[in-house]
Amino acid sequence: MDMVRLDPPRELTMPIGEAMFSQRATRRLDPDRPVTDEQVEIILNAASKAPNGGNVQPARYLVIRDRAAIAEFGKLYFEAWWAKRRDAYGWTSKADIPEGSVYRLPALLADEMVNAPTVILVYSAASGVAASSTFPGVQNLLLSARALGLGTVLTTLHPQVMERVNAMFGVPDEMAFHCCIPLGYPRGNFGPTSRLPTSTTTSWDRWGQSPPWK
Ligand SMILES: Cc1cc2nc3c(=O)[nH]c(=O)nc-3n(C[C@H](O)[C@H](O)[C@H](O)COP(=O)(O)O)c2cc1C
Repeated sequence: MDMVRLDPPRELTMPIGEAMFSQRATRRLDPDRPVTDEQVEIILNAASKAPNGGNVQPARYLVIRDRAAIAEFGKLYFEAWWAKRRDAYGWTSKADIPEGSVYRLPALLADEMVNAPTVILVYSAASGVAASSTFPGVQNLLLSARALGLGTVLTTLHPQVMERVNAMFGVPDEMAFHCCIPLGYPRGNFGPTSRLPTSTTTSWDRWGQSPPWK
């Protein structure tokens, strides 16, 4: 384990504030603009540096690069996305999604997954605290991808497809799945995101007491 050298990849020069404030869900990726192995390596190295419980480092990443496999996986992702909406709302097609629903864009991702140049599935060895220990790494992954000009979106699957996904890529039974991240150059732009003001999400010294900013 390399624990002493601090040698961030020279490609990661974007100021952290710019990366954080312009990173957003990118659901339309350019199928014709390849992502290089070197870029994937930088992103996973950045992910590996994240905090995790007890430094046990439970996260394991399955990087899917084969386009035929991504096309197959994309069909399962589509099935999984609609299975979730069926479970939650009884929706089975886009016509069921109400106008203005927050699910309109995610429904687009269900169509678009087949176009992703790369897909990363995040797993851990199935034990207690593992899920929460993978997410700081996932955030590093999203931000380092942004710094390289690559788009991502964090998404999940559905139990209905897990066995088939794992069988497709030879994932051992003991691995627990956490999330799925398509990766590629965006068809579209990075840019500002819309979030609640921190003055409304933050309490100061006592619950419900405002912080000293508006
Ligand atoms: C746990 C989690 C699950 C998510 N699942 C999906 C999903 O299934 N489909 C999707 O398109 N986006 C998904 N997202 C992305 C969110 O929709 C996105 O981060 C949020 O809407 C903010 O988007 P923005 O950064 O573009 O403003 C997920 C994000 C998280 C953190």
